[in-house]
Amino acid sequence: MNTHYPKAMIFIHWLVVILVIATYLTAGNPVRNGIVGQIHTGCGIMIATIFLIRLVIRLWFNTKIPKHSLPNWQHYLASITHIMLYLCMIFIPITGFMALSDNAIQYEILGIELPLFSEIPIWDWDLSVGELHELLGNGFVGLAGIHALAALAHHFILKDNVLKSMSLHHIFGNTNT
Ligand code: HEM
Ligand code: HEM
Repeated sequence: MNTHYPKAMIFIHWLVVILVIATYLTAGNPVRNGIVGQIHTGCGIMIATIFLIRLVIRLWFNTKIPKHSLPNWQHYLASITHIMLYLCMIFIPITGFMALSDNAIQYEILGIELPLFSEIPIWDWDLSVGELHELLGNGFVGLAGIHALAALAHHFILKDNVLKSMSLHHIFGNTNT
């Protein structure tokens, strides 16, 4: 039985953690924020692109995912959290593109013009698409924080293998476990 995630998944997991932190720290209206805004949109686009690669790798390595011996409720909670994190990684960048299209006619990153939506759906809510994007972005970071705390609780309180199964040691250290 595998005790850790495949190296490609570990690498992608931690790369995306760095990108989410960078995207969050540079959040604000990219149209008004110059280079900081370009970092926000650029990192957000990378998260969405990597999401697609990640999905293929996740399905490809399905049988190589470690199976921790945990109570059923922890399995369900972890699976629901992972699915929600996956959904965030694709839907938040899409709402970001919609918000950008609502704010700008044209937008460039390092001189490359981004394709924008010519029309964005109009809804009856008391919430603009930018506000929806902001709400989801904050929710994503909150959920990722709870997920991280759960991983730390597994390691320091329950003292099991969950955090170690995603450890960068499997890529950079000389461990076979
Ligand atoms: C997972 C990736 C992303 C996260 C977590 C995220 C998060 C956020 C947050 C929290 C804000 C609100 C900042 C504030 O006003 O205090 C924001 C604003 C914004 N983001 Fe993102 N973002 C992501 C990706 C993107 C992408 C890919 C784009 C564009 C292609 C984008 C475009 C925008 C725009 C236009 C705003 C301003 C919205 C407005 O005020 O109308 N974001 N983002
Ligand atoms: C933006 C932040 C994060 C996102 C989006 C994220 C996303 C995910 C996802 C989708 C999985 C499921 C496996 C996969 O498909 O890769 C996962 C697993 C995992 N993550 Fe995160 N994660 C984040 C931050 C963190 C942090 C900060 C920690 C540690 C403190 C952490 C520890 C773990 C562990 C230990 C697993 C394996 C859990 C298990 O096997 O049940 N993650 N993460």
